[in-house]
Amino acid sequence: MKKITVPYITALKHKQKIVMLTAYSARMAELMDNYVDIILVGDSLGMTLHGMDNTLGVTMDMMICAGQSVNRGRKNALLVVDMPFSTYESCPHKAYDNAAHIMQKTGCEAIKIEGGMNMSDTISFLTQRNIPVMGHVGLLPQSVHHYGGYGVRGRDDAAKEILLKDIKSVADAGAFSIVIEGTDADLSAEMTASVTVPTIGIGASQSCDGQVLVSDDMLGITHRTAKFVKHYDDLQNNIKNAFALYADDVRNGRFPDENYVYRHSPNK
Ligand code: KIV
Repeated sequence: MKKITVPYITALKHKQKIVMLTAYSARMAELMDNYVDIILVGDSLGMTLHGMDNTLGVTMDMMICAGQSVNRGRKNALLVVDMPFSTYESCPHKAYDNAAHIMQKTGCEAIKIEGGMNMSDTISFLTQRNIPVMGHVGLLPQSVHHYGGYGVRGRDDAAKEILLKDIKSVADAGAFSIVIEGTDADLSAEMTASVTVPTIGIGASQSCDGQVLVSDDMLGITHRTAKFVKHYDDLQNNIKNAFALYADDVRNGRFPDENYVYRHSPNK
């Protein structure tokens, strides 16, 4: 398989569905590398790795540490790292410094930024300086307190109009692809048709040019997941069963048995 690049992803629109998953460790990245086009080090790691309630407490150090780990595990997939809350919103210069720092430290090819029209100046500033940006519109987890929750976005005509303007402004600002999260299926289709760069949906229907899920969700590790998550495994129960079997073996003297011990035999 060839190394996947930013222009390659942009050129996939209308040709081939884009496959993206999140990863936060080298081994996970290694396991998914052959199957995905893009690995996202999402700030969802605040919840999946650090047990936080939302993504607001995620820091540059957390993203860099996970980004470095994932970079060691992947070979071909494009690596995108989320910019954490409060590291890019206040001004384009700050966004540039933090994005460049993430790229230098992790070896990722692109960063992802949440926001629509309000972030278009920042996205232009970065892309004009050769920092590839993946946009993220619709449900914006870093704005959870502004909206008061994670409900579906674009429910009425006024909100739909805003989302259509958001995606257009992010595309015009030079984003090479755009995540659409948590929007009604018809609106996602309209948003996808309105831009020339690929859209990657999460809870945004089949009409997007690609799909992303949080890998812990699709593997069945997360406690509770949203309606749009398909479970491809039930790892939380498999893992719990393995822990229970191990504990039972140790407590009942079945582990370690003769197969798992070293014996020095001088005649061999
Ligand atoms: O943080 C994340 O994992 C994300 C994806 C869900 C798109 O932003």
